Amino acid sequence: MKSSAPGKVILFGEHAVVYNRPALAVPVNQVCVDVEVLDSDSAGVFIDAPMVNLHGELSALPPDHAIGSVILNLFQRLNISAPPALNINIVSSIPVAAGLGSGAAVSVALIRALSAHLKNPLPDEQVNDLVFEIEKLHHGTPSGIDNTVITYNQPVYFIKGQPIETFKTGKPFTIVIGDTGIPAPTKESVGDVRRLWIKNNNAFENIFNEIAQLSLIARRSIESGKPELLGELMNQNHELLQQLTVSSPELDRLVTAAKTAGALGAKLSGGGRGGNMIAFVEKESAESVAQALLSAGAKRTIVTEVG
Ligand code: MEV
Repeated sequence: MKSSAPGKVILFGEHAVVYNRPALAVPVNQVCVDVEVLDSDSAGVFIDAPMVNLHGELSALPPDHAIGSVILNLFQRLNISAPPALNINIVSSIPVAAGLGSGAAVSVALIRALSAHLKNPLPDEQVNDLVFEIEKLHHGTPSGIDNTVITYNQPVYFIKGQPIETFKTGKPFTIVIGDTGIPAPTKESVGDVRRLWIKNNNAFENIFNEIAQLSLIARRSIESGKPELLGELMNQNHELLQQLTVSSPELDRLVTAAKTAGALGAKLSGGGRGGNMIAFVEKESAESVAQALLSAGAKRTIVTEVG
């Protein structure tokens, strides 16, 4: 049985979303995780996942292993105490720890392929719930936005704990994603923001409120077919993320390079400190902005159309 899941990118509202403010995120189908589950002749569950250098038996992994724990959680959910002999192949083009949701995408594709192979395919809602539980094991206090966008493969306006709202794009628009190539685990930046939020509660609450306003205006602009407003909103969101301390010299450099090359606005995207930034561009300037990002040190770029 085979399954696939896309990457994701946050347009507005990262970090604030952990504190119940709204955020906007969209799937990125240019990168994905593919999982294939096959019956095996030799006993045990063998996993091949070259992107994390994993080639081995499930039973040899520590119980909290990022991929092993997904499989164990699913067996538990399906009441499987003696799993059949399996070969699980996982191939991913989503960079790890780059803010594109690689972990959630592996979990979604793995749970879908494995549950279907075990003749008990889980509906989206259960896939989403289970992946959120797994995200909590590895990421501390995730908002749930990554698993939601990736499970449903649709743009979402996300507020933690509330029913899923997707949004429509009145007019398609183009985003260039630039990867600093610096791995930055979300858990760390989310943990640091939490420590600072405890110390500077009023200031951080105010920043989260300002970010919430931007997410709200951005959603309206997208839905009413006025994406041209997004550039300035991204610039403002980036400044607020700098105040939350989650930008970095490399991210700032790429943001500036994108704007100098003609992007209408840019910001970091995801947990920050490293990982990715995004730039809002006119379709015609996407290639030159991507080129400028590479010249400024980006390890790779992705041009994606939203809507
Ligand atoms: C990570 O993709 C986005 C953060 O807001 C964390 C989260 O929402 O769980 C930084």
